[in-house]
Amino acid sequence: MQEKKSIHGSWASRWVFILAATGSAVGLGNIWKFPYITGENGGGAFVLVYLLCIALVGIPIMIAEVFVGRRARQSPINALVDLAEESGKSTKWSLIGVMGLLAGVLIFSFYSVVAGWVLQYIVSTANGSLNGVTSEQAGEIFSGLLADPGTLLLWHTIFTIMVVGVVIGGVNAGLERATRIMMPALFVLLFVMLGYGMSTDSFGAGWSFMFDFDFSKLSWDAVLVAVGHSFFTLSLGMGTIMAYGSYMPKRASIGSTVLAIGFLDTLVALVAGLVIFPIIFANGMDPAAGPGLMFISLPVAFGQMAGGQFFGTLFFVLIGVAAWTSAISLLEPTVAYLVERVGMKRSTATIALGVVVWAIGILCLGSFNFMSDVTLFGKNVFDFLDYITANIMLPLGGIFIALFAGWAVKKKHASDEINLKSEGLFNLWLFVVKFIAPVAVGVVFILNL
Ligand code: PFF
Repeated sequence: MQEKKSIHGSWASRWVFILAATGSAVGLGNIWKFPYITGENGGGAFVLVYLLCIALVGIPIMIAEVFVGRRARQSPINALVDLAEESGKSTKWSLIGVMGLLAGVLIFSFYSVVAGWVLQYIVSTANGSLNGVTSEQAGEIFSGLLADPGTLLLWHTIFTIMVVGVVIGGVNAGLERATRIMMPALFVLLFVMLGYGMSTDSFGAGWSFMFDFDFSKLSWDAVLVAVGHSFFTLSLGMGTIMAYGSYMPKRASIGSTVLAIGFLDTLVALVAGLVIFPIIFANGMDPAAGPGLMFISLPVAFGQMAGGQFFGTLFFVLIGVAAWTSAISLLEPTVAYLVERVGMKRSTATIALGVVVWAIGILCLGSFNFMSDVTLFGKNVFDFLDYITANIMLPLGGIFIALFAGWAVKKKHASDEINLKSEGLFNLWLFVVKFIAPVAVGVVFILNL
């Protein structure tokens, strides 16, 4: 049988796939969101649940996504239709893909606003206006930014244009080039910052906060946040990894590749926490400060450090790049779908989608100022979109992808494609996607109701 190829191109090698998928996974979720939700949910016990979710639910579902994408060589909705037909099952399974596209659009619109904060902080660090700030001043500067819709809109617009620009370039020209240099640089700088954190007196306090678990601090809501975040941080449940998998070379082994991505993503999140919490404790700040946590803690640390202006600028640049490579992956599945299904040109599809997400983003940035009194289920638009996508849509999509891979697809198709080293490992994977992952996530959903 002739090997299928995606019409959108393919990654040059397994290594490029790892880079691109890690580029998607590692983003604001790791550096901005993980520390702040860990802070809000009491630390250690939350981190433990998150790690368990990554290992028991995230990794197996990522294997499922890559396998479905690579076997079908099409964007998520069409991939689900294809594999369902191949196994003689209902094409209604493709609704998972539809929900995924919607999730991508909604995530992008608040993600881009936060990425905009990062861009502003690149400028503020570079021009020295954050030099030597105290923790109170850092807090005021951040609140000042949120209160200024014009500035937020400017950066949100610039960020959206940056993403659209790369996605128009397509798999090889755009996505691949953006990731190759930037991801390794981010790793290096994170470890430099970790070294700084370790040299401070509060490193031990930061460490204990993250790794001493006290289950009395854990609520069911916190467990749901941990489950949801494990999907968000690995870019699972909405078809992103499926789309990237459809560009993956046939020879590359899915199991070890996915393990590498999961490991790198988790490492970045943990290191980000170990960078931020010591700063928080050293300066008497509140770990539960919420979404501003990174933006009020890092400037204080850079302000005190030798060469802080330089390192600070570089660090925010790299966070911006991490956000960029993730945001690209939020649009890619929908763009690929529009090209396949409606026959749109890649550039037209990307620009059209860009306009939609940009417009919804305005509602998100307004949550902090001119729309602060507009609430949905007691949350402002920004928090609401974050909540329903990360805590509901992605886990739900993830469960259904697991069920699809475990129950709908013929076992032989899955085992041919995934090609794990031993039959025992394959059966273990199958058992997890058939039972463990859906039941675990389902139980957490129910207990939250
Ligand atoms: N994984 C990204 C992060 O942690 O920042 C966010 C994300 C990207 C979520 C792509 C979902 C997705 F499909």
